Amino acid sequence: MQIAKTIAEMKALRMKSFGSVGFVPTMGYLHDGHLALVKQARAENSVVVASIFVNPTQFGPAEDFRTYPRDTERDLAMLEKERADIVFMPSAEEMYPERFSSWVEVEKVTDRLEGSCRPGHFKGVATIVAKLFNIVEPTRAYFGQKDAQQALVIKKMATDLNMNLEVIVAPTVRESDGLAMSSRNVYLNPQERQAAAVLFKALTLAQNLREKGEKNAERIRQEMTSLISKEPLAKIEYVSIADAQTLEELSELDRPALASLAVKIGKTRLIDNMVLE
Ligand code: PAF
Repeated sequence: MQIAKTIAEMKALRMKSFGSVGFVPTMGYLHDGHLALVKQARAENSVVVASIFVNPTQFGPAEDFRTYPRDTERDLAMLEKERADIVFMPSAEEMYPERFSSWVEVEKVTDRLEGSCRPGHFKGVATIVAKLFNIVEPTRAYFGQKDAQQALVIKKMATDLNMNLEVIVAPTVRESDGLAMSSRNVYLNPQERQAAAVLFKALTLAQNLREKGEKNAERIRQEMTSLISKEPLAKIEYVSIADAQTLEELSELDRPALASLAVKIGKTRLIDNMVLE
C-alpha cells in the first residue's frame, strides 16, 4: 500500500495506475461502514484509493472539527488489511492554500435537513469532494447511505458538472442493536450508547407503519417523535418523511420516501435514515 501525502504524489501514483480506480473518501477513524465501501471498491476495480482528510470547511464554528476522532496508524492498518492500493492523506494547508476562493454549491437538495441545521456544511463537502475527484480521477466513488443527503448532493454535483465517474451508494452498516456505524459513536458514554438505539427504533417504527399501509406522513412523523421523546437522553433536531430524491417533505406517501432524523444524545449529534418503499 502506498501513501501519498501531497497532491503531486497522488497524481504521480494515479498516472501509474492501470484499469478502473475505485475511490473511498473518508475523514478517517474508520469503522466497518468505511471498510464495507473499501471491500466493494476492491471487488469492482483494478486499483483502490482511499483518502483520509478531516475537512475543516464542512464543520461549523461551534462543531467538533478540533475534537473529531483521529487515529491514522489504526486507519492505515485497517486499509492495508482490506488491500487498498493507495491512501491519500493531504494537508489542510495544501488543500486550502492562502487565498483559496473557489467553492462548489449544490442548490435545492441542500436547503433542508442537514443543510438547514448545518449552514455551509454541504458547500464544504461538495468543494472537498470535487477537489478529491479532480486529484484522484476515480472511475467509481463510494459513499454510505447513512449520509443519505450527502450522497444525493454528490450525485447531483457529479451529474450537473459532468464529472466523469460513477457515484455508488452502499447500504448503512449497523451495530447489533441497529445503531448506524459512525466515527462519532465514540463520543457516547455507555448510558448514551444504549439510548442511541432509539434512532433505529424510530426508523423501524416508520417502516412498520408504512408496511401496514399508513400513507399519512404526518402521522408517521408524530409516532416517531413520540417514541424518541420517551428516551430522556434524546433531543430531536428533526424528524422527516420526505421525497427520497428531492427531500421535500411529504404529506402523503405516494412515492419512495426517505425517513430521516437528527437527534442529540447528550452532546453527540447523530443522524440516520431509512428508505420507505
Ligand atoms: O462522509 C465523509 O466522511 C465526508 O463528508 C467526506 C465525504 C469524506 C468529505 O469530507
